Amino acid sequence: MKITCKPMDLNSVAEVAKIEALCFSSPWPVDSFLNILNNNNALYLVALENENVAGYIGIFDLIDEFSIINIATHPSYRNKGVAKYLMEQIHSRAKSKNCPLVTLEVRESNIAARSLYESFNYKEYGRLKNYYSDPLEDAILYQLRIINQEI
Ligand SMILES: CC(C)(COP(=O)(O)OP(=O)(O)OC[C@H]1O[C@@H](n2cnc3c(N)ncnc32)[C@H](O)[C@@H]1OP(=O)(O)O)[C@@H](O)C(=O)NCCC(=O)NCCS
Repeated sequence: MKITCKPMDLNSVAEVAKIEALCFSSPWPVDSFLNILNNNNALYLVALENENVAGYIGIFDLIDEFSIINIATHPSYRNKGVAKYLMEQIHSRAKSKNCPLVTLEVRESNIAARSLYESFNYKEYGRLKNYYSDPLEDAILYQLRIINQEI
């Protein structure tokens, strides 16, 4: 499967919101994605297979840290390397901006996402008690030191 990516734009926001709704118990509505398009510190990338939006990733660029807001792959496109591709895109952007650190948080029970992050050598560095609701659950904090990583 050939995957490409481009920044999220007005044309792709609705598809991104649809995937978000399929993936999360408290999804962002379309308006939140529209708002973040105007945030200069945020970057959302959509993964495309032909013209179809297969997944997305969002980050805040905090100068010396990229903070991953979210990543999701449409259920029909799972296990085909879409999330891996999106993570690689973010890592290479961090590297080219000399950003040394990428951070994220994830539900403790989210084995698929935690395996994805650990496959890139992200290391656990903390826990936020009862961070998520619906259902109530701890967040595990992960970080990746990007400088000197093979990406
Ligand atoms: C987590 C998620 C983004 C993975 O997307 P994906 O495109 O299917 O993942 P990929 O095909 O790129 O897989 C890359 C790696 O992730 C890990 N992985 C992905 N799905 C997995 C699963 N179901 N079980 C265990 N590991 C998994 C594996 O290490 C995999 O590498 P491998 O194929 O060499 O074993 C996807 O399951 C998803 O959208 N989940 C719902 C949203 C979500 O939980 N997002 C994370 C919020 S923190």
